[in-house]
Amino acid sequence: MPHSILISQRAKALKPSLTLEISSIAKALKAEGKDICSLSAGEPDFDTPSFIIEATFKALKDGLTRYGPAAGDPELREAIAEKITEMNKLPVTTENVLVTNGGKQAIYNLFQVTLNPGDEVIIPSPYWLSYPEMVRLAGGNPIILESSLSNGFQLDVAQLEESITDKTKFIIINSPGNPTGRVMPRKELESIASLLRKYPKISVVSDEIYEYLVAEGITQVTFTEVAPDLNDRVFIVNGFAKSWAMTGWRVGYLVGHPKVIKAAISLQSQSTSNVCSFAQRGAIAALKGSKDCVKEMVEKYNRRRNLLVSGLNDIKDISLITPNGAFYAFPQLPDSCVGSIEFCRIALEKEGLAMVPGMAFGEDRCIRISCAASSSTIINGLNRLRRLL
Ligand SMILES: Cc1ncc(COP(=O)(O)O)c(C=O)c1O
Repeated sequence: MPHSILISQRAKALKPSLTLEISSIAKALKAEGKDICSLSAGEPDFDTPSFIIEATFKALKDGLTRYGPAAGDPELREAIAEKITEMNKLPVTTENVLVTNGGKQAIYNLFQVTLNPGDEVIIPSPYWLSYPEMVRLAGGNPIILESSLSNGFQLDVAQLEESITDKTKFIIINSPGNPTGRVMPRKELESIASLLRKYPKISVVSDEIYEYLVAEGITQVTFTEVAPDLNDRVFIVNGFAKSWAMTGWRVGYLVGHPKVIKAAISLQSQSTSNVCSFAQRGAIAALKGSKDCVKEMVEKYNRRRNLLVSGLNDIKDISLITPNGAFYAFPQLPDSCVGSIEFCRIALEKEGLAMVPGMAFGEDRCIRISCAASSSTIINGLNRLRRLL
């Protein structure tokens, strides 16, 4: 039997994550002994802070190895509710919180329980590559809202309004953003909020996974802070992967209206069940512990981001908006250059330099370069890029 006939239409339409693919190709080439310089990582290169590991180890030793509530460890839900109440100025309780397998599953679950066939989700471009796929998987239509480097990847509110139809259910905002590293200024959030006041059926997905990773002097403002009157229609996605270097732990969360959270809990109870019980104890330690470890990592990212940005600005013909958050830069290639996929293929083949093509994020003229790497790797990568160009 040709097994391809077993594959559903839904799965056939699905694109694998290009970022994960490139990182694993780079790792495999390195393992073969090739001289690879990888600036493709979407994850911290730091180890998880030891007090988090110790709390998890203790949980394991204490026998926390069984099934737990599908919605998450009650203590973790409580700690998340407290954090959101304090930091997002959004008064919530555990009923508003679902603990998920990373931020990814928070978005996946949300769309699965809210989208009907044909519902539209507006996604400002450049976007994190999983958004459109997750919308499609839930039967919805991703509506891509273009922006460009020439206007600093700013969201154009007039254009946003034009893309609204009676099928629009959500708009996604992601600040600090992947792949641009852009932090949305308060004004931009305010103008989105004013527009949404005219459209009461549209909700907001606010992906805040890079919340702590902001450049010195920059303040990360959340949507709920600027528009508390819209609290009922905001869904916050967050997790522990980026801020606490816990990518492999798979702990994230969704915060939103209890009715939607209840539906997402049912979905989770019938699919993955609870997030790994002892990993959740590590997440509690992260939330309740000192933030010094986060600050230390942020300082290092800031130094590395500055290094990457100044190096890129020194390369002729490359254009860049200065990223002020996350750990990425998203420079635009010279006009004469091949497309981003071809460019990144050549970079890997000729220079052993791994970067992610902008095409994966909806912008073929750019490439994503990560600064979640040591300073020497960044300098090495910049040299290879300069030579290649
Ligand atoms: C913008 C954005 N949102 C969500 C996620 C998901 O993070 P995780 O599922 O690892 O918590 C990522 C991961 O790269 C991301 O870049």
